[in-house]
Amino acid sequence: MSGASHTQNTQLSEAKNDRAVGADEEGVWHDLGVLDRLEANGRAVAKIAGHQVALFQTAGGLYAVNNRCPHEGYPLVEGTVKDDCVLACNWHGWSFDLKTGKTILGRDPVKTYPVEKRSGRVFVHIVETPASTVRTEAMAELAEAMAEHDYERIARSLCRFEMAGGTYEDAAIWVLNWSEGRLERGFGHAHAGLTDWISLAGADDELRFVAFLEAFGHFAWDALFSPKVVLVAAATTFTAEALLAAIESMDVETAVAICTAGLDQGLGFSDIKPVLLDFVFSHYAGFGHPAIYIGKAEEMIVHLGQRVEGVLCRQLVRYLCLAAREDLIPEFRLFGNLLENPTALSGGALVAQELSGTSVRQLLPKVAASNGNNHEKWDVLVASSALDMLKFEETLQHGIEQSIAQNTGWLDFTHAITFAEAVYTHASLNSDLWRSGHLQQACFIGRNAKSLSVNTFEQWRVADVLVFFATQKATLFDMDAGEYIYGVHRLKLITATERLLGIVTIETGALLVAALNRYLSSGLRQRHPARTAFQARASVTREG
Ligand code: FES
Repeated sequence: MSGASHTQNTQLSEAKNDRAVGADEEGVWHDLGVLDRLEANGRAVAKIAGHQVALFQTAGGLYAVNNRCPHEGYPLVEGTVKDDCVLACNWHGWSFDLKTGKTILGRDPVKTYPVEKRSGRVFVHIVETPASTVRTEAMAELAEAMAEHDYERIARSLCRFEMAGGTYEDAAIWVLNWSEGRLERGFGHAHAGLTDWISLAGADDELRFVAFLEAFGHFAWDALFSPKVVLVAAATTFTAEALLAAIESMDVETAVAICTAGLDQGLGFSDIKPVLLDFVFSHYAGFGHPAIYIGKAEEMIVHLGQRVEGVLCRQLVRYLCLAAREDLIPEFRLFGNLLENPTALSGGALVAQELSGTSVRQLLPKVAASNGNNHEKWDVLVASSALDMLKFEETLQHGIEQSIAQNTGWLDFTHAITFAEAVYTHASLNSDLWRSGHLQQACFIGRNAKSLSVNTFEQWRVADVLVFFATQKATLFDMDAGEYIYGVHRLKLITATERLLGIVTIETGALLVAALNRYLSSGLRQRHPARTAFQARASVTREG
């Protein structure tokens, strides 16, 4: 904008005493009188029945639009008019068709108002947009924003939807259904995050807005990098055996079709869940995520209602089909053998300090043969996992010239805790699952054995647990953890640890909180340029 036009704009008048002069079926005409400033400057702003309206008189006609730019709210009356009917906002360059309000450059459209000049007097027709229309438009904007991962626009559209009477939960249901055709692996961290964000926000409306925004952003981000999913129709019948067999054979299409058939015949999550758990506790797979995700899905249904049961079941089935079968890796094959062939030996009680630092091959038989009740064994394994976090040799995060098998990071440790919470959730309802749960906990502890150093418990011990959790949870709502995957793991571990405190012994609880304290206070390595290049060269060279 030129200096001259800027001076003009700062002198723009406001019509403060407009008169409503007649209502029709849709709205009310307001008489603004003769607007000298509009005549002199070609623009003016007026407050009319709670609306701030920018008026433009150009060679193309007289136009009225909302004065607040839909991008960040700066005054459009200060904008630049081009070609008689295009208005460019001078703050970030969005431009609008003054006739229709449609965006020419930018995203959200601006609201327009019918405007007329009668005998030199300006009349503006104020039409209150029905709330249902606002909600429909907001959801259309949300769809566009999700497709582009436009975080600020996701926030604006969600806000408009909620202010027009929509609920965050309804928007979340839409997001889940939207994600089904967009997330190749089905269920993922974004789902788990959505569940935990909703729980964490509770009833506080401001926190709820942040929580749903962050969760939706995560879905949008993951969808950006995922191939589209071709959804299959159910052309089969449901049996639990057939579903389990399809998951076992990693036959995604068949498994999802069988699941869909079951849902079509009226089955719900509670009917499908036993099949999923049967698979999950028969394998060490997906780095513990399958057990975690089933619990998060069940919790999400409590938050969002039965309407999400179908999509969550199908996404879980897809995820389980595609989960890495780690129990087939040589290091973990003993898991399957011990699960199928329980040992008759008695190996005594487990001791956390003795388990930490023990390899998978030594640890699995020890846990399989151990004495003690299920809860006690689980507690000791939780304590050992927390101890591992306190002994993690953090410098290993930064190694460069090493094999891929030597890569170690904080998330290798945090999953032992979130998985342990999932084991408790499922096994406390079905004691048959404890045995597999214990062995899988041992797999986590054993795989981290080579990455430990000295115990830092005293350094990270937390004196006031209540204050600690209150502070950490508040921090989550304004964290800057980089990519969503890192933020969501902070969220998941805080959530899991707080829940575990109500279940574990006092000693184990102290270790858990100290471990969480250390993790949250530590620098989390997110990118490894030099290591990635080194390992890529080593790997590609071996390809021959
Ligand atoms: S505020 Fe108008 S383009 Fe940014």
